[in-house]
Amino acid sequence: MSTIQRDGFGSRFGVLVAVAGSAVGLGNLWRFPYMVGNNGGAAFIILYLAFVIVLCLPIMFSEFIIGRRTQSNAFGAIKKLAPRSGWLTIGVISVVASVAIMSFYSVVGGWTLDYIIKSFSPSFLTSDSSSLAGQFSGYTSSSVMPVVTHLLFLAISALIVVAGVKNGIERYSKILMPVLFFLVLLLAIRSLTLDGAGAGVEFLFKPDFSKITGKTALAALGQAFFSLSLGMGCIITYGSYVNKKENLFKISFISAFADTGFAILAGLAVVPAVFAFGISPSEGPSLVFITLPQVFAQLPFGQIISIAFFFILLIAALTSAISLLEVIVAFCTEELKWSRKGAVIATFLLIGFFGSLSSLSQGILADVKVFGKTFFDFFDYTSSNIMLPVGGLLVVLFVGWKMKVSDVYDELTSGATISLKGWIFKSILFIIKYVAPIAILIVLINSLL
Ligand code: PHE
Repeated sequence: MSTIQRDGFGSRFGVLVAVAGSAVGLGNLWRFPYMVGNNGGAAFIILYLAFVIVLCLPIMFSEFIIGRRTQSNAFGAIKKLAPRSGWLTIGVISVVASVAIMSFYSVVGGWTLDYIIKSFSPSFLTSDSSSLAGQFSGYTSSSVMPVVTHLLFLAISALIVVAGVKNGIERYSKILMPVLFFLVLLLAIRSLTLDGAGAGVEFLFKPDFSKITGKTALAALGQAFFSLSLGMGCIITYGSYVNKKENLFKISFISAFADTGFAILAGLAVVPAVFAFGISPSEGPSLVFITLPQVFAQLPFGQIISIAFFFILLIAALTSAISLLEVIVAFCTEELKWSRKGAVIATFLLIGFFGSLSSLSQGILADVKVFGKTFFDFFDYTSSNIMLPVGGLLVVLFVGWKMKVSDVYDELTSGATISLKGWIFKSILFIIKYVAPIAILIVLINSLL
């Protein structure tokens, strides 16, 4: 037990909202629709759903177990349970992955901010896709505005994080999440009632398994981990703020269910509309930004819907960004003994710098390559497709093979206050020990072939 008085979540609803708020973000509303579009539609979604159930849930339990058991940040948690061992890699990955993810996440968060402002101008919404594409690339490749909006997005997230868990994360998430849900629902309903939406629904739900390759499987795995905030200590860190009586299963199931529901809902909000207006689903990261304004332009109240949509994206991105920053800040305050404010400022400067590189890599730094990728793609690819799967693999191996079985049982039953049948516990342990690690390894190895 830590001797330092630690902050914690004030209520069950607060925990749920914060974990779901971390999970639901740009991953669902920006990344999921274009990953589905790029990787063959329904078959990708089925693989994604299978990964959520078979891999993500056990990893989420495992991260919660480690976090709540130790009441520490990801690095400190492993240090307590396995001092001076190779397992500390989990802690290292958590901090490095948070920095890497934030270094492109806050750039896209900045685009969102800019698109809210753009939406206020009536001339922004046009049916001319080449003008929208030109506008997007003109904006993202410029050297000033996107860097400024990235820093602004980062500053807002940092301000929320500085307020601490109860006053910052919990209070903001509580208000923002339900608003978000209703706005996306509204968009999905509108999108599904468009003429020609059927082709999009078919794309989303009629699988063609010949489209699945080793690379698309890894993309689905990375997307599932990214979307559920797994494999990088985020749930370990949030788990450390969860009170001892809370049922970890309940929180995990509800968060995973909410996140997956949001992703599918976002798919329903974006893809049918994209098909209805004859836009290509494989536009990539620009999909939401290039094609949706065109869709909005052809809708009644398009301008209001556009403002609302980019506002939703911003809210979702903020509740996720604060969870990413919290991983780094908890590490700095607990391991390095920095003040919370100092930790936030240092984090701001570091991510401010890397994020600027990532933003500039859309323009003047487009030719600077790290391992053959632009800064933006490098941060995205290495975090989602390498660090998160490896982090997730190590977490299940750690809980399955290194932690005491009695401790795992104690956490899963919240100190024997929740009844858990022996065979259910054994099955969960079996999945954590064998099924999840083997499945992750197969996907990782297969993607290299
Ligand atoms: N899950 C978040 C999203 O979907 C992103 C994220 C990844 C947040 C990893 C925390 C940790 O946008």
